[in-house]
Amino acid sequence: MGVFEMNHPLIQHKLSYLRNKDTDTKIFRETLNEIAGLMTYEATKGLRLKEVETETPIMKTTTKVLADPVAIVPILRAGLGMVEGMVTFLPTARVGHIGVYRNEETLEPVYYYCKLPVDIAKSKVFLVDPMLATGGSANYAIDYLKQKGVKDISFLCIIAAPEGIERVQEAHPDVDIYAASIDEGLNEKSYIYPGLGDAGDRIFGTK
Ligand code: URA
Repeated sequence: MGVFEMNHPLIQHKLSYLRNKDTDTKIFRETLNEIAGLMTYEATKGLRLKEVETETPIMKTTTKVLADPVAIVPILRAGLGMVEGMVTFLPTARVGHIGVYRNEETLEPVYYYCKLPVDIAKSKVFLVDPMLATGGSANYAIDYLKQKGVKDISFLCIIAAPEGIERVQEAHPDVDIYAASIDEGLNEKSYIYPGLGDAGDRIFGTK
């Protein structure tokens, strides 16, 4: 269990496009998905395998396939921006959704929607949100998944603030956190700095 900052040169190169305020919506969206895909490759290293009997054109043999169902659960709405990149590497994964937004005054998470795969309790779950800021929404979503019986959760984000990491680790030490970058901190509006701004607005072109 722990926190993993993904220093791969390709991830860092692509991250510089996301940080640039002049990157347009199209490139931002594509690059975010590319980073999410590269992170998926790393974050799935520990998935369990099981042996199955397979017949090649030559003979019967055993091959290895993923032992457990896998689910990707984006926290709406910005988490949606990572799903396409992740399913490229996990095409059999189911996708659930949790809707939590941050009350801009209290900064507390507000729940509004959830739809999860039926076998979620047996699944390895990758909970995703590009920005781990205060940790409020992440903790809310992890609590929610655990109440549904989920036992194996990893949290994937593009940028994490040390404050958010600390809060999630304190509440959920069993959850691995993967980030492309651990930034300096949170400003007075709880935005991550240097960060990349509002991830949802940049993915969906709403600002
Ligand atoms: N959410 C964002 O989209 N950006 C931040 O910097 C913090 C939270």
